[in-house]
Amino acid sequence: MKLIYRQMLGFFAVILTLIVVLGLLFINVTSRMLYTNTWKQLQSYSDSLIEDSMRYDPATKQFEGFTTVPLENNAQLLQRQNVHFTIYSTQSKLIYSSSNYTSNITNSDWKKLKAGKTIHKMMDRPIKPNGSLKPQNSSSNSSRKANSSSSQSRPLMTDVIRPYFYKGKLVAVVSIGSFVSNIQGNLQQIRENLWIAFIVSSIIALILSYVLARSTTRRIDKMRLATHKIIQGNYNVHLELKGHDELNDLSADFNKMTDSLQESQEEIKRQEERRRQFMADAAHEMRTPLTTINGLLEGLAYDAIPEEDKANSIKLMQNDTKRLIRLVNDNLDYEKIRTNQISMSRKVFDASDVLHNLAEQLTKKAATQSDEVKVEVPNTLMTYADYDRFVQVLFNIIQNAIQFTEKGVITISGAKIDKGTEFKVADTGIGMTEDQVKNIWERFYKADRSRMNTKYGESGLGLAIVHQLVELHGGKIDVSSEYGKGTTFTIFFPDREHAQHQSTQEHSDDKN
Ligand SMILES: Nc1ncnc2c1ncn2[C@@H]1O[C@H](COP(=O)(O)OP(=O)(O)OP(=O)(O)O)[C@@H](O)[C@H]1O
Ligand SMILES: [Mg+2]
Repeated sequence: MKLIYRQMLGFFAVILTLIVVLGLLFINVTSRMLYTNTWKQLQSYSDSLIEDSMRYDPATKQFEGFTTVPLENNAQLLQRQNVHFTIYSTQSKLIYSSSNYTSNITNSDWKKLKAGKTIHKMMDRPIKPNGSLKPQNSSSNSSRKANSSSSQSRPLMTDVIRPYFYKGKLVAVVSIGSFVSNIQGNLQQIRENLWIAFIVSSIIALILSYVLARSTTRRIDKMRLATHKIIQGNYNVHLELKGHDELNDLSADFNKMTDSLQESQEEIKRQEERRRQFMADAAHEMRTPLTTINGLLEGLAYDAIPEEDKANSIKLMQNDTKRLIRLVNDNLDYEKIRTNQISMSRKVFDASDVLHNLAEQLTKKAATQSDEVKVEVPNTLMTYADYDRFVQVLFNIIQNAIQFTEKGVITISGAKIDKGTEFKVADTGIGMTEDQVKNIWERFYKADRSRMNTKYGESGLGLAIVHQLVELHGGKIDVSSEYGKGTTFTIFFPDREHAQHQSTQEHSDDKN
């Protein structure tokens, strides 16, 4: 069955049940009310009957009996309202009966009456009163008398049977009743009205259930449509959010799902692009040294290289093969760091010495560029890091600074700051534009290919590795640069107590 019909059926059933329950409740309450009102009325008739007809000696205040005349008068009056009564003095003795109908009082009823309880009977098949007195009926009752032979043909009555006491002694029991048909007539009218209300509400319920079901299924349809779009590869779908129901939550989750799908789709594209770029760059980087080596080998093979140049050619080939090895090693290193495959053994050491040593190692290279290298660090600068990796990071950055600076100053500084140690390598070299700065952490990125220092054979892997290493230490690396003016790299290494997360990882690495 389609969801809309199922929903409709659900709503319709609920609304209909509500109407039926309310209807039944209403009929029940109204019929109870009608009966209660009738009983109240009958009770007041009964009270005035006894009041009018009871006789007692004014002197002795003794109960003497009942006067028939007021009873007869009342009987005629009540007859017109279809009310019949019978008065008993005891269970077996009838004092007066206004008609051929009287309530059937059972022995248990008598017990209750003697205990002073008034009995109400909702529907009672009357019997013929038996006793000494003949009913005082008018002619209108003659037709009913004919039917009185069979009790089944007697109309149903609702009765009140009430005991009356005088000085604690039961003196009379009045059974007073009217035809149920009077009440039933009223009830029938109410029932007919309710039927009309029921039919009208059913139609409204049907329309209402359709509207409710439609609004739900329409939202589901929208989701289906969106899902179809996703199947077709279109992740740019967003469902409208309204209300605070489960469908709204589902739509919100759906939107989150499409967002993350779109994101991962873009990430896949980016990664694919990076992979493609890497392959192209790697091939490009390798082609130059390989071409050089190949050319020289051919020259040697065909004896095209003069004897005095042969040594130089072999030196060139050696340089190029070294360059190829470095390229491969750097790439392997990068991948190892990236995939967390390297183990770090961190300790606290004095970085001041390390920086002085590095500056010294690189003086030769600085001299070729006519650069001055300055080290401005405190006498001791305790740093928490993997010693070899720390040297690798600083070496790369200082080397870059020298490489891209001519006749300038390279300042290496370090200081203790909040939660760790900070190092700065500032140069007065060529600098970079904002766009160039954005890309320097990418593998094979070289800001200015025309200014590439072929002597050192840069591959554009240095900073990519540096970045990974600093992150692995839980540190931070930043760069600020101004084109044509110079560049400053700032590297932060956290202290032991602030590098907690990384050290746990480190232990697990060590185990591996
Ligand atoms: N101090 C600097 N001043 C100006 N440009 C720089 C500086 N440091 C890095 N760059 C730019 O960032 C690029 C990437 O640097 P990176 O160290 O990754 O590669 P590389 O030095 O070219 O090659 P490799 O370090 O692998 O030999 C450089 O090619 C250069 O364009
Ligand atoms: Mg470099």
